[in-house]
Amino acid sequence: MLISRWVGHPRFLLAFRFLAALLASAPLLFLITGIAAQSLGPDPGQEVTESLGLAAFQLLIATLCMTPLKRWTGWGGWIRIRRMLGLFAFFYATLHVLAFLQFILGWTDLWATFTKRPYIVAGALSFLMLVPLALTSTRGMMRRLGKNWMQLHKLAYPSVVVAWVHFIWQARSDVGEMVFYGLAILVLLAVRWKWAGSRGMIPFARG
Ligand code: HEM
Repeated sequence: MLISRWVGHPRFLLAFRFLAALLASAPLLFLITGIAAQSLGPDPGQEVTESLGLAAFQLLIATLCMTPLKRWTGWGGWIRIRRMLGLFAFFYATLHVLAFLQFILGWTDLWATFTKRPYIVAGALSFLMLVPLALTSTRGMMRRLGKNWMQLHKLAYPSVVVAWVHFIWQARSDVGEMVFYGLAILVLLAVRWKWAGSRGMIPFARG
């Protein structure tokens, strides 16, 4: 009783949101300090690109955890940070793409990179699915799109699966990490499947 009153307090919610924002900003802060201290290793461009990709991927998974956490705990605070985490994921994904173009590709051979490195196609697909989600994340768009908003935002699931494929495709080591993320995504998909049924998983499915 005391706990439910405490976690429902506006100040607690504010502190929770602040902490979530701080945690979500941590990868960027680490990178900035790493760049300033010149401690990112022999290939800082590669390190920056990889760290940003990992942050985007982890935050996408964290975003998808919010609804199950709300249902299991009954606490609405999880939903209050969902949009922010999703936007952070998109922010990191955008920086990841820009870092790739700047540090790895040097803004040349854009087409060749898709054919030479197929994992890039998976990354691009995942990113393209995130774009409409970020663009329609405002309350106004939510109201305007109504039921379609929910349908559209199911794209987060194929996006995270394709991001995982992108991740595992170019991985050179640490299969354990890939398996861990794969299992986490599988659990999230299984939970959604249980709640919504198979049709409820498919973006734009009718009925
Ligand atoms: C046009 C879109 C994208 C491009 C061109 C791209 C490119 C890259 C490149 C070049 C790498 C490094 C590969 C290496 O180590 O040699 C990478 C790694 C990675 N990317 Fe992407 N990516 C894209 C989209 C995404 C998206 C949308 C996500 C996640 C939501 C993502 C997550 C990752 C992850 C997790 C890694 C591995 C990081 C690590 O090794 O720690 N990428 N990507």
